[in-house]
Amino acid sequence: MGTCEEFYSTNSPPNDYEEKQKLLREFCELHIKNKQYIVLITSGGTTVPLEHNTVRFVDNFSGGVRGAASAEYFLKSGYAVIFLHRLKSLEPFTRHFSGQKFLEMLDLDEKQSSIKVKSTFVDTVAPILRSYKAAQEGGKILYINFTTLSEYFWLLRAACESLYDFGPHALLYLAAAVSDFFVPPNEMATHKIQSGSGPPKIQLQLVPKLLAPIVNNWVPNAFIVSFKLETDENILISKSRGALNKYKHNLVIGNMLQTRRTRVIFVSPDNQEEVKLSREQIIDGIEIEKKIVHKVVTEHCKFIQKQS
Ligand code: PMT
Repeated sequence: MGTCEEFYSTNSPPNDYEEKQKLLREFCELHIKNKQYIVLITSGGTTVPLEHNTVRFVDNFSGGVRGAASAEYFLKSGYAVIFLHRLKSLEPFTRHFSGQKFLEMLDLDEKQSSIKVKSTFVDTVAPILRSYKAAQEGGKILYINFTTLSEYFWLLRAACESLYDFGPHALLYLAAAVSDFFVPPNEMATHKIQSGSGPPKIQLQLVPKLLAPIVNNWVPNAFIVSFKLETDENILISKSRGALNKYKHNLVIGNMLQTRRTRVIFVSPDNQEEVKLSREQIIDGIEIEKKIVHKVVTEHCKFIQKQS
C-alpha cells in the first residue's frame, strides 16, 4: 500500500478544488467567530474510475441515508454542518421527498394554475421546510460534493485544514463508505476499455487510510468518530476496536449491512454499548440517527469539558 503523500502526489485535485477550498474556508471563518460547534459529516460512497476518460467505475452500496439524516439531527442540536457527500446521494431535507413520494404530495389546480401541498401532507412537509429554511438562512450548512475516491481525498483534507482552529469544538463524523481499492492513475486505461481485446486484467491496489493523518496531523484536537461496516457479526466488534487501537481516535460506531437502520454499536476506548430501535420506535418512524447523534453530541460535550 502506498502512503497518503504518494496518493496526493499522483492523483490531481478536482477541477473545482480551489473554489470548494474557498467555500470551506469562508464557512469556517464565519462560524469560528461565534465559537460555534461544528461537524464535518462525510456521506455516501466513493467511485473508483477504471479509465481516465471514465465510462466505467467501481462503486458501492451506500446511498447516504446515515449522513443525510444525521446532518438534520446535528443542525437541530445547534451544530454548523459541513456536509461532504457523494454527488446525487441523499441530502438532508430533500431526502424526504425523493422519487414519486414528492409528486404524491402535490395537488394541481388547473383552473387556478397553481400547485399546492395536499392537506394530508402539510403536517409532514411544514416542519421539514421550516428546518431547511432555518439552516439555509442561518448559513448553518455547507454542501460540498465528491464523486471519485481521489476527489474525496482532496476535499476531506481541505475540510480538515479549515477546521484546524476549532480545536476540540470540531467533530468529525466519518460515515462515508470509502473504497479500499483503486486503480492508480499511471495504471489506468486512457480511453474506454474495449471488449474486443478480451476480458480486461485490472489490478486494484490498496488505498491508504486517511484516519492516520486526520488524527495525527490535520485535526489532532478534534473529536473524531469513524464508522465500521461489516457483513459478518463475528468480526464487527474486533474490527471496530482494532480501528480504535490503531488510530487512537475517540469513537467507532460499528454497524452491520443488514441491520444498519435499526442497530449500531458504540465502541470507545473504555466502553462498548449497543444503540438500537425498539419495535415501537420502528413503527413510530423514529430514525436510529436521532439516537446516534444524541449520543455522539453528549460524548462530544464531555470531551470539550475535559479539554478546558
Ligand atoms: O449510506 P447508508 O446506506 O446509510 O449506509 C451507511 C454506512 C453503512 C455506509 C455507514 O454507517 C458506515 O458504516 N460507513 C463506514 C463504512 C466502512 O466500513 O468504512 P471502512 O471500513 O472502509 O472505513 C472505516 C473508517 O475509516 C470510515 O469511517 C472511513 O471514513 C475511514 N476511512 C476509510 C477509507 C480510507 N481510505 N480512509 C479512511 O480513513
